[in-house]
Amino acid sequence: MKLLIATHNRDKLSEIRALLAGIKLEILSLDEYPELPEVVEDRDTIEGNAAKKALETAIHSGICCLADDTGLFIDALGGAPGVYAARFAGESCTYRDNRLKALDLLKDKADRKALFKTAAVLAAPDGIIAIRQGVVTGKITTQELGDQGFGYDSIFELDGTGKTYAQMDAEIKNEISHRALALKAILPILKTLAQLD
Ligand code: IMP
Repeated sequence: MKLLIATHNRDKLSEIRALLAGIKLEILSLDEYPELPEVVEDRDTIEGNAAKKALETAIHSGICCLADDTGLFIDALGGAPGVYAARFAGESCTYRDNRLKALDLLKDKADRKALFKTAAVLAAPDGIIAIRQGVVTGKITTQELGDQGFGYDSIFELDGTGKTYAQMDAEIKNEISHRALALKAILPILKTLAQLD
């Protein structure tokens, strides 16, 4: 069975590939479908964006599609950046710009609690098959720690580990992260579909 992962992000793609290893799937990425129209992520929830990405990509490609969308919700910022995590520091900002903005906004704050949430959506061209969520709690550190990963990894300390995602080996993060939890919840459905194929 072919499964198109609706992302151009290589970091995410390699995490998703690792999670799906072992299932009989031919994994494709958007790089193999350069003609597909860009999906505008204009919904105000991660579920809405992931569902839109999965369904539009499945319709345009004609094959099953897996999409995910992640938000970072920081308590002391009223839940910001939330679903807007990618462009927190502006339209063409870098991952580092976003981290520095979060650190700056939190510099006098004692409450550093945060949640990472991922919505994973599996869709066929004729409709959505499954929507699952993965949530982890943690805190925003006072400085960047670690050099693995991407995005907010070096400022997000996962509860119960004493480490930021960026201080973990990729294999460990890939077992316990928000995205891993959401994708693991989709795995049984994908396994069934792959067996039926
Ligand atoms: P997306 O919806 O998965 O593209 O994620 C939106 C933004 O959240 C990304 O641009 C990253 O800044 C951040 N993000 C998503 N997943 C992770 C992660 O696993 N670690 C750190 N930051 C992440």
